[in-house]
Amino acid sequence: MAAIETAGLTRRFGELVAVDALDLAIDREVFGILGPNGSGKTTTVLMLTTLLRPTAGSARIAGHDVVREAARVRERISYVPQDMAVDIKLTGRENVSFYAALYGVAGHDRVDEVLGIMDLADRADDLAGTYSGGMRRRLELAQALVHEPGVLFLDEPTIGLDVAGRRAIWTHIAELRERGMTVFVTTHYMDEADQACDRVGVIAKGQLVAVDAPSALRHRLGGERISLQTDRLAPPVAVEGARLVRREPDRLVYHADDAADAVPALLAGLASAGVRVSGLEVAAPTLDDVFLALAGRQDEGGAFDYRQFRNMIRRR
Ligand SMILES: Nc1ncnc2c1ncn2[C@@H]1O[C@H](COP(=O)(O)OP(=O)(O)OP(=O)(O)O)[C@@H](O)[C@H]1O
Ligand SMILES: [Mg+2]
Repeated sequence: MAAIETAGLTRRFGELVAVDALDLAIDREVFGILGPNGSGKTTTVLMLTTLLRPTAGSARIAGHDVVREAARVRERISYVPQDMAVDIKLTGRENVSFYAALYGVAGHDRVDEVLGIMDLADRADDLAGTYSGGMRRRLELAQALVHEPGVLFLDEPTIGLDVAGRRAIWTHIAELRERGMTVFVTTHYMDEADQACDRVGVIAKGQLVAVDAPSALRHRLGGERISLQTDRLAPPVAVEGARLVRREPDRLVYHADDAADAVPALLAGLASAGVRVSGLEVAAPTLDDVFLALAGRQDEGGAFDYRQFRNMIRRR
C-alpha cells in the first residue's frame, strides 16, 4: 500500500479542468511536482490533503480515501501551505506547543524534539517575530512535524529564502525521508528539485506529462545544452537542429541534438545580427531544459515561434 495513491484524480472548476486524471503512486520518497503557474499543483495538494473535493477519480493516503475517510487521512498528514504564518507574538516553543495541543499531542518532549530537528532549540524561547525568514519557515516545519505525520505536503517550501536557507530546508527534508516519511513537495526551483527529489512529476495544464527520477528525465531528453554569453539582448537566432530554450538579457540557451553541428551555425547567425559572443558553454541538459521541453510556458502557448525572427534576419 503506497503512502499516496491516486486513480484518475480530477478537479474541474466549471469548464476548466484544473487537474486532469492523475494516476500516481508515491511511497517513502521525496516526490517533487513541477509545473508552470496555473498547471494544477496546488489544486492537487488541496485534494490530497482533504481540503478540496475531487470532481472525479479518487485518492488514498496510507490506504484511506480522502473523501470518505477524511478524518483518518488528516491524522496521518501535515500540510505546510506557501503562505502559512507563525504567530510572531509567541515564542518558537509556544507556536509549536499550540500545534501540539491542536493535534492532541501530550507532553513537552515532542515539542523539544521537533524544535531540535529544525535547529531551533537555542532560539526556542525567543519571540517568533525576531526570527529570520528561514527560521520562520523551519518553525512552520516544526509545527507540521509535531504529531509525527507519515506524509508531509509542502507547497513551495524554499521560496523567498537565501541559498543557505534553502539548503537547510532541503537537508531537513532529506532527513525526514531517512526517517521513513513520504514528502510531496511543489517547487519552481529546478536545480533544487534535481538534487533533492527522488522522483519528479511534470504537470502541464492539469495533466501529468512525465514521472521519473530527475537523472532519468535528463537522460531521456538527451542532446546538449548550448549557452552563449552575449554583449546585449540578442535576437532569437534560429538554426537547424537547435531549439531555443531561454532568451535572457545577456544570454541565449539552446538545446541541440549535436552541439558540434549547431555551434558554428549559431555563431554565424549571431555575427550576422551584429551580436558579439563573449562566452560559450556546452554541457549536458539540466532539469530546467527537460521542464521547458515538456511543459513549455503556458502563457506562450508552448514552444517559442522563431520563424518570424529567422525571416527578419534574412531580410537584412
Ligand atoms: N477555486 C477555484 N475556482 C476557479 N478556478 C480555480 C480555483 N482554484 C484554482 N483554479 C484554477 O485552476 C488552475 C490550477 O490552479 P492551481 O492553483 O492548482 O495552479 P498551480 O499549479 O498551483 O499554480 P502556481 O504555480 O501559480 O501556484 C488555474 O487555472 C486556476 O485559476
Ligand atoms: Mg500553487
